[in-house]
Amino acid sequence: MNILIYGASSRIAHECARLWARDGHALVLAGRSALRLEPVAADLRVLAASPESVRTLAWDLADEATLRQRFADEDARAGGFDLLLVAHGWLPEQAAAQRDPAVLRETVEANALSVAQICEAAAGVFEARRRGTIAVIGSVAGDRGRQSNYLYGASKGFVERYCQGLRNRLHAAGVAVVLVKPGPTDTPMARQLARPGRLADPRDVARDIVRAIDRRQAVVYTPGPWRWIMTVIRWIPERAFVRLKL
Ligand SMILES: NC(=O)c1ccc[n+]([C@@H]2O[C@H](COP(=O)([O-])OP(=O)(O)OC[C@H]3O[C@@H](n4cnc5c(N)ncnc54)[C@H](OP(=O)(O)O)[C@@H]3O)[C@@H](O)[C@H]2O)c1
Repeated sequence: MNILIYGASSRIAHECARLWARDGHALVLAGRSALRLEPVAADLRVLAASPESVRTLAWDLADEATLRQRFADEDARAGGFDLLLVAHGWLPEQAAAQRDPAVLRETVEANALSVAQICEAAAGVFEARRRGTIAVIGSVAGDRGRQSNYLYGASKGFVERYCQGLRNRLHAAGVAVVLVKPGPTDTPMARQLARPGRLADPRDVARDIVRAIDRRQAVVYTPGPWRWIMTVIRWIPERAFVRLKL
């Protein structure tokens, strides 16, 4: 497969890329910072059958005017992507996002707007080609608004509804849309949240993601028990939920 990963410096994405590199897939590692992508690429080139099958791409998604053409150009250069994994995300300090309008805006831009922007670029190309998979990393935080992280959670909630609509649109063209909902995972993003013992291993999360993509699964919770935990959380009546300190 030809795989484009946006947010390839993310720990979860890096672990996915390790699995794909070992299996001989070609990888384009994209993200906002070339500096942050290079160590990931160096690691993957050791695992890959040929070092040329891994390259990096510094790309700022805020550059809306060139975004779609850039995707089309990179797609052509790669010989046609089979898979786009959108892995970037940013967890702000909730109090700062409540206090500061600029942090609020950045939260929505980083976790929602930029995700839709790159997915729309891929959707047009994959739909015309009538094949491909778009996989997006959302979060369990998108399943219900909670006082501890509702601005991040709302952005991930947007991602869920967005993926649902995109999946519906692309189904007829044979293009799959996979939404991944990790629980708290041991990566730089989550270390501020919980004690390491309570965080999932990103290697396990990556295995779940790669399997879900292979199966073209619509939605995957990872680790698996989060599916049941979030079912319970979603079903708590609102009049009881408002009293909880979550
Ligand atoms: N870790 C968890 O507990 C957890 C739980 C649920 C969902 N998730 C989701 O999983 C995905 C991967 O995160 P991770 O846990 O692997 O975190 P991570 O290792 O901290 O990586 C975060 C990634 O997002 C990129 N990024 C941050 N802000 C960005 C922006 N404004 N524009 C473009 N890229 C930006 C970072 O790029 P730089 O390297 O350039 O900074 C980095 O590649 C994210 O979507 C996250 O929301 C994580």
